Amino acid sequence: MPDLTTNYLGLKMPSPIIVASSGLTDNIEKLIELEQNGAGAVVLKSLFEEEILMEMEQTYLDMTSRPYIYPENFDYKDSEFKEDGIRAYLSLIQEAKSRLQIPVIASINCISEQKWIYFATEIEKAGADALEVNLFVPPTNLNNSAADNEKVYFDVLDALKNETSLPIALKISHYHSSLSNMIVNLDRKQVDGLVLFNRYFSPDIDIHNLSVINANSLSTPDDYINTLRWIGFMSGKINCSLSATTGIHSSDSIIKQLLAGADTVQIASVLYKHGTEYIDILNKEITAWMENNKFKTIDDFKGMLKHTDSEDMAIYERTQYMKQFRNFVM
Ligand SMILES: Cc1cc2nc3c(=O)[nH]c(=O)nc-3n(C[C@H](O)[C@H](O)[C@H](O)COP(=O)(O)O)c2cc1C
Repeated sequence: MPDLTTNYLGLKMPSPIIVASSGLTDNIEKLIELEQNGAGAVVLKSLFEEEILMEMEQTYLDMTSRPYIYPENFDYKDSEFKEDGIRAYLSLIQEAKSRLQIPVIASINCISEQKWIYFATEIEKAGADALEVNLFVPPTNLNNSAADNEKVYFDVLDALKNETSLPIALKISHYHSSLSNMIVNLDRKQVDGLVLFNRYFSPDIDIHNLSVINANSLSTPDDYINTLRWIGFMSGKINCSLSATTGIHSSDSIIKQLLAGADTVQIASVLYKHGTEYIDILNKEITAWMENNKFKTIDDFKGMLKHTDSEDMAIYERTQYMKQFRNFVM
């Protein structure tokens, strides 16, 4: 019987399928169900930077209104935080750790390098196995250069590495002008893992109501291609773990990401569509494919079809691009 055991961020998990940060991972009952259905790990629903800062601000106001506390003595690290919000998140981590066997990865969604980073230590104390940082600096500020935007990623990583010894995974977008160089530099800065790539709100226009609407909250099965290209290109060139996400809806697309070199995949949309029992089907289909191909472990085939240094990716892609148009017939 093939073994689906996988290593990611230095954590051992029974399957390469991780349930991505989403509404599927926001309470203990759902987490238990995900484990029972065969998830290799779970990434909790993100705590948003704005939520943390709002609570910190409120706490600051509460404390400074007391006569014996001076603003200049205020230190976020010494403050007491309110029960709701952040405390609830930390309690979820604690409960998940006490009731699940699989790794529990906490998640923060952020846009800046701020004092909130202190919360990484709270997350570590609560027992999380790792921290995934969903970091997005929208490339929409007309005055920011690419270097200005990218600096935020390195600053956040540095600050987190100073504050905590938790394994840190950065979940990033593909909106970077020199993505491969950015990934190599994050790896040199000792990021433990990269999650490629997050999926963001995309605006569409409703021509009947003349309004701007959300294009599509859930991915489609074709959306995995961009991730596959980058996993295949970067794996083998960096040391950190790689997790593939976006558009992974079938065991075929999971196997492709593993062949390209991903350590794990993260799925959400397909579970919204088919229910969490679908994880069990996916695990069984991967196992059957491994049996047919005589692979005993994930490591037997992981990265088998990754890009190698002997191929010049730029020339290869340009040739394929030209071929595609030359051979295209209606
Ligand atoms: C309803 C929903 C809620 C999500 N919430 C979060 C979140 O809180 N934090 C985060 O990092 N990603 C969030 N995501 C993104 C997913 O974690 C995942 O990266 C993305 O949906 C791509 O995977 P998929 O194609 O399998 O859906 C959310 C996705 C969905 C569909």
